[in-house]
Amino acid sequence: MSIRINVNGEERAFDGKGITSLLDVLRGNFFLTGAKDVCREGFCGACMVHVDGVPMASCLLPIELVQDRPIMTIEGIGPGGTLSPLQQALEALDAVQCGMCFPGMIMSLTKLLGDNPAATRDDIKRGLAGNVCRCTGYERIIDAALTLRQEHGLES
Ligand code: FES
Ligand code: FES
Repeated sequence: MSIRINVNGEERAFDGKGITSLLDVLRGNFFLTGAKDVCREGFCGACMVHVDGVPMASCLLPIELVQDRPIMTIEGIGPGGTLSPLQQALEALDAVQCGMCFPGMIMSLTKLLGDNPAATRDDIKRGLAGNVCRCTGYERIIDAALTLRQEHGLES
């Protein structure tokens, strides 16, 4: 079975079983290893990608369900392969520890801040409810997101 998907603006084809998870196709077939393979149960959020602009756990998505739907992975989030403003803010605040959760965190936060650039600390906490980090206290991650508000003049 040949399944067409669009990943980070590129048309790709996967030849294999339609039940194969999007996560396995991204990592094993397309060598896009940014989405992390952790719980495989939809619990941790480390495998999140955008499907039609919405963050989803790629470990739970059979590839046949995303045929012809635009997918964005962490590799496609920054302009021209550079770091996005959010990634730069996370780096500047030294928010990243082991990094396993960060691809998923960034996919969730990018959507959240895109929809609501004036998101409050509580909005951001709620937006990260599906992303588990075992290393950090989340505070620097939230601080980095709030830094972007300051850069855009939303907060003094
Ligand atoms: S690996 Fe998909 S949610 Fe944890
Ligand atoms: S930084 Fe290690 S799991 Fe989040």
